[in-house]
Amino acid sequence: MESNFSPPANWWPLSKVATGVILVLTLYTTACLLSLRKIHPREPPVVPSPVPLVGHLLGMALQGGKYIKNLGLQNPDLPIFTLPVPNSRIYVVTDPPLAAAVQRASKALSFTPIIPEVTKRVLGLDRATVDIARKNMDPGPNDERGFLADIQDMVYTWLGPGNSLTDLTIVAVQEVRKEVAAYAGSHQADASSGKPVDLLAWVRHIITVSTAKYLYGPENPIALHPELEDAFWDFDHGLGALLINIFPSITARKAFSGREKLSAALVEYLEAGRHKTGSKLIQKRVELALKHGWTLRMTARSELSFLFGGIVNATTSTFWILLHLFADPELLATVREEIEPVLEENDEAARVSGEPKFRLSIGNVKDRCPLLVAVYRECLRLGSDHYSTRVVKENTLLAGRYFLKKGAVIQIAGGTIHGHQRIWGDDAATFNPRRFLDKQQQQQQQQQGGYRTKPKQVHPAAWRPYGGGKTLCPGRHFAENEILSLLVLVLLQFDMNAPGGGSIEVPEKNDRILPVHILEPVHRVKLVISRRVDDRAVNAADIDVVM
Ligand SMILES: *[C@@H]1O[C@H](CO)[C@@H](O)[C@H](O)[C@H]1NC(C)=O
Repeated sequence: MESNFSPPANWWPLSKVATGVILVLTLYTTACLLSLRKIHPREPPVVPSPVPLVGHLLGMALQGGKYIKNLGLQNPDLPIFTLPVPNSRIYVVTDPPLAAAVQRASKALSFTPIIPEVTKRVLGLDRATVDIARKNMDPGPNDERGFLADIQDMVYTWLGPGNSLTDLTIVAVQEVRKEVAAYAGSHQADASSGKPVDLLAWVRHIITVSTAKYLYGPENPIALHPELEDAFWDFDHGLGALLINIFPSITARKAFSGREKLSAALVEYLEAGRHKTGSKLIQKRVELALKHGWTLRMTARSELSFLFGGIVNATTSTFWILLHLFADPELLATVREEIEPVLEENDEAARVSGEPKFRLSIGNVKDRCPLLVAVYRECLRLGSDHYSTRVVKENTLLAGRYFLKKGAVIQIAGGTIHGHQRIWGDDAATFNPRRFLDKQQQQQQQQQGGYRTKPKQVHPAAWRPYGGGKTLCPGRHFAENEILSLLVLVLLQFDMNAPGGGSIEVPEKNDRILPVHILEPVHRVKLVISRRVDDRAVNAADIDVVM
């Protein structure tokens, strides 16, 4: 017998490769189990990723906004779930009542802590400015009010229903009307000879130019430097990359350079005092920023965000609505029949004094054109995949049921909520504006040879293109007024056709990006835009839009 023990060479029955595989599998399983672990028994169910630890981050990086939206759609029974990420958690809410609960819990679940960092990256604010922005962001009734609190109050007041909203709407619609009329004046083409136009670019130009004008006055940066229109859209398309903020001048080159050009022009604009010819809203914003100690240069940068707010969603929403209407001749005809009776003829006296032939009240459009409003709502539902993001400021029991850990992030997944069959029915993925009509309106439509769909009551937080709670968009009334007016002006004067005739195809939306606004199509749509050949056609120039 040998005295010194050495294990036989083949004591371990498996090969090196098999051992390696087993080792990796064991580690992998352990990692998976660990990442499945709840950190509190009442934490929302954990949705694992095939790649533990970083899998969800990877998914988001590779698939953009689509990743979390699809996780939600694939787990229709989970109203809320947990995504484990290194050192933290992301909670995802996909259920409207629970979304409303998040919105109500605005003390513990707050968006405000995120604002300074986001605006710093996106707008390129300096440290001193961000420090000012961080002060007293969420003041109580007796605290001193910081810049953000002041500016939010002001904007909500000015854009809430009332005189200032009316004034701004009227000025805006006049500018929009001028742009539409100018296009009609410079393009006499008929449907057969006209050159195809990129519809998104067409809408973009109208809205960019008119928004810059009604907000910033006739001497606004884009009017003085028309090439800034492209710079603006470069900035918009690189917003996600600017947010990531790793050497943005290299990794987000076009967006960065667009932003810098626009900022420089806005500095020049403020230095020359041209904002005094702009809207009162802008004058107020500038005044508040300076009062809180912002420099003129940084104030100019912050105006870029407001210009952005005024342009981007109005543009993409209007694009989708026009496209869907002109792609469906029957729908278009019905909508036009709704609009035509709303147009009132101005009387002789008014006309003699130089007023346009017709008058159109936006209030009447909202009241008397239910199908048009339904198309608007349906396009916003389908186009908006946005996330309402909040930081969990303290350990919280949401709706008395779900434990949320301090420091984590909670997101209401708008794209999932807008796409859930549980909420919208089997046709959730399809364009069906009539889902927004009430019973009586649907019956009227049916009598006119229309449709049959079951009206479905949805929770108020289920339609959320404007967000909700404390982050509900202050510009929503204004945006609706502006978009509906623009639609009416275009629908009464123009036709749009597929080049070479035939039906118009509606592309999918591009949902792979970070959804910072209503999503754009995966590819451009070119249409022939021509004057309407119809004795009911009305020129935009002949319509006076009123509230
Ligand atoms: C635009 O709409 C999206 C989606 O509905 C929303 O998340 C975003 O905050 C809006 N952006 C602006 C600038 O209004």
